[in-house]
Amino acid sequence: MNKIIFATSNEGKSKEVKHLFEKTDFAIISLNDLGDKTEIIEDKNTFEGNAKKKAETIYDVYKIPVIADDSGLVVEQLDGKPGVHSARYAGENCTYDDNNKKLLDELKDYSQPHKAKFHCTAVYYDGKEFIITEGKCEGEIIRIFRGTKGFGYDPIFLPVGYDKTLAELDISEKNKLSHRAEAFNKLKKKLVEKY
Ligand code: IMP
Repeated sequence: MNKIIFATSNEGKSKEVKHLFEKTDFAIISLNDLGDKTEIIEDKNTFEGNAKKKAETIYDVYKIPVIADDSGLVVEQLDGKPGVHSARYAGENCTYDDNNKKLLDELKDYSQPHKAKFHCTAVYYDGKEFIITEGKCEGEIIRIFRGTKGFGYDPIFLPVGYDKTLAELDISEKNKLSHRAEAFNKLKKKLVEKY
């Protein structure tokens, strides 16, 4: 098995990406698996900049190949907000619930549908080479919370063509349509070719 560290402590992301790499020759190890509490400051203004920073920071510690992602929600009526600031939209140490409530509050004076998309930039870094891929998932923000699976904005995000929010889908279903699945499936294909 080829060991690859996934530079995240987000359990939701980690479960999704491990599921995508099942039945491959890659063993995905998260920061939580390593007991590593490194806080990586996301101070770049692009998804790619932040994803590369996460991968480089963790590569420098362990010197084995790393994958990382930076992702977020882009809402049309809010000119692309919360975007790269999705994780801490409602402030430092906020919960997912705080972010969702702030988003619905910001949207309260706009008419529905609130068109939105998730974006994900995934990167691989082995000390020499970066491989970078992207994925997106189009949909809309709904005003009531539905479902308890997933994480983040999942309970208020209805993907195009679905009558369930992302929080009403199992991991295997979310992995058929999500921004993260698209980005990491592309990355997986490139890694299978490389190794
Ligand atoms: P980051 O990639 O660590 O900066 O965090 C991205 C943030 O975007 C998360 O904390 C969530 O708030 C949001 N986000 C990214 N992907 C998803 C998803 O698949 N579902 C729901 N929220 C997401």
